[in-house]
Amino acid sequence: MIVSTSTLFKQAYGKYAVGAYNINNLEQCMGLFKGCMDSQAPFIVQLSKGARSYTHKKLLEGMLKTADEIFPDAVFAIHLDHGDEATCMDCIASGVYSSVMIDASHESFEKNVEITKRVVDAAHAKGLSVEAELGQLGGVEEDIKVEEAHAKLTNPADAAKFIKLTGCDSLACAIGTSHGAFKFSGTQGLHFEVIQEIGCLCPGFPLVMHGSSSVPAEEVRRINAAGGKMRDAKGVSEADISKAGKMGVCKINIDTDGRLVWTRVHREFFRDFPEKFDLRDPGKVFIVEYAKYIVHKNQILGSAGHLAEVRDACKKAKK
Ligand code: G3H
Ligand code: 13P
Ligand code: ZN
Repeated sequence: MIVSTSTLFKQAYGKYAVGAYNINNLEQCMGLFKGCMDSQAPFIVQLSKGARSYTHKKLLEGMLKTADEIFPDAVFAIHLDHGDEATCMDCIASGVYSSVMIDASHESFEKNVEITKRVVDAAHAKGLSVEAELGQLGGVEEDIKVEEAHAKLTNPADAAKFIKLTGCDSLACAIGTSHGAFKFSGTQGLHFEVIQEIGCLCPGFPLVMHGSSSVPAEEVRRINAAGGKMRDAKGVSEADISKAGKMGVCKINIDTDGRLVWTRVHREFFRDFPEKFDLRDPGKVFIVEYAKYIVHKNQILGSAGHLAEVRDACKKAKK
């Protein structure tokens, strides 16, 4: 069942966070659905602009509509990750997405409000929900490069104003994370006080944490042992992720961890079986390993085991 992110957040708020996993291909799609069914968790599949242009956006859209048929018990949102206005409008018109993210966080406050409001109006008219962003993460966001040194945390008072002015349904806040496998170059940690303050000003409003991969040390060790060169890779601790989930962070964005599973599986596979060349052989291993990762992550997020109750609530809401 394809539902909006708002529908999922209504069930999750303050209790657990829903995993928002980026995918680009068939194997990630299978592993994700399998992992979420194995852990009985609702989830969000997200497609970036890069994913949409990797092969063809319609291939991904068709694949997800088909996944909904193959996994009739799954409850999930199809979400655009870090969209610009034109891409948001394209996704809203597609009839496939149930929510979009408009990322105008690099613009001035006023311009961000203006752009976000236009997307909210168009999305709400078609029943989609909208995630917006205020503040700037360190690292790389799609085409937007922001030096970690200049990363700006979200200002809680501005956030409250922004939510009111735009009518957005959830807000991605900058609280010290960054995208990619090399987070926290120094001793920085997460700024939970930002989440807490926004929670006080906007009670019940769903927040989103980007850059939330944990970059598991064991995964990095195995990648390096199989020929990789990923020195000093570091992510967000799982304790911090669980904590955020209980503070009103309803959506936790994870892309890099999935890439690490892919890299580890393929490096080890071709190291151990140098004579093989059938892409389906490592592909099958990847699907199983990615599903295992998803099961573990949904347990950390607290979404595992909530599928039946969310499905019942969604069915009731549709009546
Ligand atoms: O936030 C960015 C996501 O990790 C998507 O990455 O643009 O390389 O697909 P991508
Ligand atoms: P990671 O790079 O930490 O996986 O973050 C992904 C993300 O925020 C996608 O929007
Ligand atoms: Zn992001």
